[in-house]
Amino acid sequence: MSDPRLRVIIRQMNLNDIDQVVMLDKLSFPSPWPARTYRYEILDNEHARMFVLEPGNVFEQPAQSRQLNWLDRLIDSITGWTNGHPRPLIGYSGMWHIADEAHISTIAVHPDWRGRKLGELLVWSMIRQAMRQRAGQVTLEVRVSNAPAQNLYRKYGFEVLGTRKGYYRDNSEDAYMMGVTRLDEAYRQHMLLCGKALASRFHVINEWYQDRG
Ligand SMILES: CC(C)(COP(=O)(O)OP(=O)(O)OC[C@H]1O[C@@H](n2cnc3c(N)ncnc32)[C@H](O)[C@@H]1OP(=O)(O)O)[C@@H](O)C(=O)NCCC(=O)NCCS
Repeated sequence: MSDPRLRVIIRQMNLNDIDQVVMLDKLSFPSPWPARTYRYEILDNEHARMFVLEPGNVFEQPAQSRQLNWLDRLIDSITGWTNGHPRPLIGYSGMWHIADEAHISTIAVHPDWRGRKLGELLVWSMIRQAMRQRAGQVTLEVRVSNAPAQNLYRKYGFEVLGTRKGYYRDNSEDAYMMGVTRLDEAYRQHMLLCGKALASRFHVINEWYQDRG
């Protein structure tokens, strides 16, 4: 019987991904990062780790973006490309490791793919990496109006640690600083349970983290 789980790839972001990531960024944030920021994060920021999420194969794109004939599909399934283009990215995320703190710098899922636990998969993967790196805490900033993201973080034990007044330049909105500060055995068990639930939905076929620290 075939595996009903969605096959996805999580891999490290590279320079060839930047155009797509910037497009996704524009669909996801009122103040998207420019391409040069991604270049800096990938090439120069020794604390940064950037990831992208791809569908495992071309057949798993949403129906509206499927316009390939059988030959294109065959070629794509062999090459991993789509009509001569790299696979479309469906999400990305970034994290900074500084001292014992892991800070989630960005995360987004393509609007067509939201609500399928892919954001959760990215968050889970980053926290797991932070724990592997022996981080003592995981932190982030989030708009006070961004309820979906806050709910996602709360699911992973994040609590509001404080407020940064007027943090976002586009509309002077406040940010909540959120964090998980006890990555202890109980938290490890929580991660294990969440990981099992995610594994019943996703077959992560190539999860690759490079430790630059
Ligand atoms: C935030 C974001 C990454 C979530 O990704 P997603 O794949 O849609 O979320 P998931 O399907 O993994 O949902 C996981 C949890 O998030 C919360 N959540 C997600 N969407 C939600 C919504 N529309 N309303 C309320 N809670 C929501 C829920 O707690 C959900 O868990 P549940 O399904 O068990 O209730 C996505 O909405 C996004 O890209 N938003 C724009 C960019 C952004 O705001 N990034 C965060 C910056 S701090």
